[in-house]
Amino acid sequence: MFSCTIPLLLAESHRLFNPGCTPEAELTSDFYIPQGYQNPSPCLVWYLVLLPELITFEIRVSRSAEAGIRKGFDTFRMALEPRMTVLDALFEIQRHHDASLSFRCACRVGMCGTCAVSVNGLPQLACKTRAAAPGRGTLTVEPLPHLPVIKDLVVSLDPFFQQWKQVLPAFRPKHPESRELASIPEDSTFARAIPRKRDCITCGACFAACGVKATSGEYLGPAAINKAFLRLMDPRDQAKKERAALLNDERSGVWRCHAQFNCVSVCPKNIDLADSIARLKRALLFPQRLART
Ligand code: SF4
Ligand code: FES
Repeated sequence: MFSCTIPLLLAESHRLFNPGCTPEAELTSDFYIPQGYQNPSPCLVWYLVLLPELITFEIRVSRSAEAGIRKGFDTFRMALEPRMTVLDALFEIQRHHDASLSFRCACRVGMCGTCAVSVNGLPQLACKTRAAAPGRGTLTVEPLPHLPVIKDLVVSLDPFFQQWKQVLPAFRPKHPESRELASIPEDSTFARAIPRKRDCITCGACFAACGVKATSGEYLGPAAINKAFLRLMDPRDQAKKERAALLNDERSGVWRCHAQFNCVSVCPKNIDLADSIARLKRALLFPQRLART
């Protein structure tokens, strides 16, 4: 697409700024680089602005015994098209340079959470991260830290989901046999809190970015705690005591959080995880507040 777009834009800009130019003149080489260079035409400016940017990708690869054990960085130099994401670039590398490169993705629009990788040291969604940025010559792509690597950029999210399961993420209705629809008043604390807390796509970025999680295997991690917070706030839920006990645990619960805010800065859904943790700490100190939610 890019290769067709440039000539079209060049032609359009040339006609715009040179209304007297004939189609025959457009066919000459002067059309692209005006004579003498002293007065570069808008066509040349367009060309320079739209010239594909060259960028170096350093990708951490880890290969198994069958493929010949290999660990380290592979380097690829490639031209980027405008608006290309890191995921697009990984596909390009897989198509043209290394067919065995492994990475994970599904939706490609930031909804499924499967493509999270570490880009220049920050856990991010590959499909939502632009590859080109002003002044960026090298882009380092690695698997999410603190999670077991399966191959190349693919990690196992087992440790993440083990913690997630611990907080009893499924809804436990107070009246499981009831056929009435439970209503949530619009102005209730729960209704007001939901929109900012419910959009987790379980990408694991906050888990990988958390400095406490890096040193403590037992800590539940920001995403699981946020999920428990949502359930605790829900007036229809009946497992409040069990969840509160888990969150109050000295080694795995909310008290391990040192409020480093790494989770908040990497969450692709902009969930204020530190706020959920702080509010849970307050609720555990003052249980009457928990009872009112
Ligand atoms: S809370 Fe945000 S960063 Fe953490 S798993 Fe959910 S979407 Fe990803
Ligand atoms: S591929 Fe689904 S979030 Fe990136």
